[in-house]
Amino acid sequence: MAVPPRGWAPQADNVGVLSSPAFSPAEDNPPDAIVRVRGVSKTYAGGFQALKNVNLDIRRGEIFALLGPNGAGKTTLISVICGMTNATQGTVIADGFDTVRDYLLAAV
Ligand SMILES: Nc1ncnc2c1ncn2[C@@H]1O[C@H](COP(=O)(O)OP(=O)(O)OP(=O)(O)O)[C@@H](O)[C@H]1O
Ligand SMILES: [Mg+2]
Repeated sequence: MAVPPRGWAPQADNVGVLSSPAFSPAEDNPPDAIVRVRGVSKTYAGGFQALKNVNLDIRRGEIFALLGPNGAGKTTLISVICGMTNATQGTVIADGFDTVRDYLLAAV
């Protein structure tokens, strides 16, 4: 499985659905990632899918740009990472803590 190059940002494969290449744990698992997004999908209550299997790592101290056209799902993804919106699938690990299962520890 191809590893996204550093500086890679998710792309909207069609407007309104942010997705990314599959994650390969054996090849892309930096030990210094402060945020790990794994297989995150989000379908809103009305049935609209805004995120489709998003995978990314943000390293400690890294300046990471999330780029995409209007409606691509940037705000949805940031809301999931911050715990303001629940993902339909997938996990977000912040400093080693699952933002849903260990949300209090992840928030500190
Ligand atoms: N609460 C919601 N219920 C249903 N659909 C939503 C909801 N919030 C966002 N969407 C839809 O999900 C898609 C992604 O929206 P989002 O706001 O995450 O995109 P964005 O990349 O932040 O856009 P922008 O650049 O305009 O800020 C859009 O098609 C939007 O209409
Ligand atoms: Mg937005």
